[in-house]
Amino acid sequence: EKTAAPLVPAQRTLPALRAAAAGCRACDLGARATQTVFGEGPRDAAVMLVGEQPGDAEDLSGRPFVGPAGRLLDEALAEAGLDRRRVYVTNAVKHFKWEARGKKRIHQKPDAGEIRACRPWFEAELAAVRPRALVLLGATAAQSVLGRAFRVTQHRGELLPSPLAPIVLATLHPSAILRAPDPEARRRERARFVADLGVVTRALR
Ligand code: URA
Repeated sequence: EKTAAPLVPAQRTLPALRAAAAGCRACDLGARATQTVFGEGPRDAAVMLVGEQPGDAEDLSGRPFVGPAGRLLDEALAEAGLDRRRVYVTNAVKHFKWEARGKKRIHQKPDAGEIRACRPWFEAELAAVRPRALVLLGATAAQSVLGRAFRVTQHRGELLPSPLAPIVLATLHPSAILRAPDPEARRRERARFVADLGVVTRALR
């Protein structure tokens, strides 16, 4: 069983966690990625967002959600009344998993073993930040945190009872909005995404 658990330092401050995660080889993804993309944001953030895994842009820059999905996320957060700079943003898996297709690096879904191996980092981040609201973006994040039986399609936008935080909500992954088949579907999905984030904004008041 692969797990990052033995690598998590006793002192669970964000800088200590980040430094320890930089050398993580708990699963095989670290060897092929450019670097660990750890979460970032204020340690007193009221909101923690969890994505799937870094993409190409994040792998190169070392920061979560800075590529196309990140731009969409930033806009949607702002429209929902949330400031990205005040949110802690992380991913269920902290290394980019990719496959070469010509010169391009194509995103591959992390498997269950990789997701499980990485979960101790998320747990440590959650313990360090203790956000009021935990927002799970897409099925990978939601199932990593809430269990594999959880279905985002059935429960998106709902306030979920959970011991992890007072407010827990799952919604689509912003990349799914970018993949919508046509502009009308994209507009619709984007509006629902902003509405789901708005549920969090209102619950925080
Ligand atoms: N998609 C994610 O899930 N996370 C990122 O950091 C970027 C894209």
